[in-house]
Amino acid sequence: MSILDDPGLFGRLWAASYDRTDNPDPAATVEFLAPLAGDGRVLELAIGTGRVALPLAARGVPVEGVEASPEMVAQLRAKPGGDRIPVTIGDMADVPVTGPYTMVFLVFNTLFNLVREERQADCFRNVARVLAPGGAFVVETFVPDPAGFDRDEQVQMRAVTEDSATIRLHQYDRAAQTFVRQTITFDRDGVHLKPFAMRYAWPEQIDELAERAGLRLAERWADWDRSPFGPESRAHVSVYRTA
Ligand SMILES: C[S@@+](CC[C@H](N)C(=O)[O-])C[C@H]1O[C@@H](n2cnc3c(N)ncnc32)[C@H](O)[C@@H]1O
Repeated sequence: MSILDDPGLFGRLWAASYDRTDNPDPAATVEFLAPLAGDGRVLELAIGTGRVALPLAARGVPVEGVEASPEMVAQLRAKPGGDRIPVTIGDMADVPVTGPYTMVFLVFNTLFNLVREERQADCFRNVARVLAPGGAFVVETFVPDPAGFDRDEQVQMRAVTEDSATIRLHQYDRAAQTFVRQTITFDRDGVHLKPFAMRYAWPEQIDELAERAGLRLAERWADWDRSPFGPESRAHVSVYRTA
């Protein structure tokens, strides 16, 4: 199977170390999401190890999840409260649950883990299917910065120690708006590859996917603290609502 078509790849490669990496503090995300939940059920797509879902559930919000990777869910289950969150293993593009949900959310750039435009469109269409009337779909992603990929190929040095070296290679396909990345470590045991791919999209393109699914943009912020979104913003938090 191609790296571009394997939703379980991320978890197989990263689950064991995910919570040891420098992931963002979820406090502001939880502050933003909790009031939007109302008194209904809430769904996180790509719930991962529960970075956001667990503190949200601790606020009394009834959170459920969809996740492609059993390895990520095993990490969630091992945490306090992690065994009480219902999780369906499956592809977030299919949204393999029935709802209705007052809110669905997909954070931390994870929409872009769907590496084909049609699967991103499927995701929006299926979210619209499970949202309650007036429900919200909250999406957080980066805004692509063309200066970051002015060349189609990039090599970055990540770490060099006495007995290992890690580099990162990016190959961009600007027409398809995708990149494939390899994080390569050379050490005494050999060469270790960690592939990763994304299909990035500009905010207007994401709005178009939403509109095609019958959702309209209700709010857009530059961050979870509701700082204003503008031309210089490097990320956005967008709230779509059912018509
Ligand atoms: C960057 S992590 C984010 C996890 C969590 N939402 C968070 O904010 O910490 C990306 C997650 O997306 C999951 N994932 C990637 N592609 C997926 C897909 N097609 N369907 C469901 N989950 C997917 C990965 O397994 C991983 O748990």
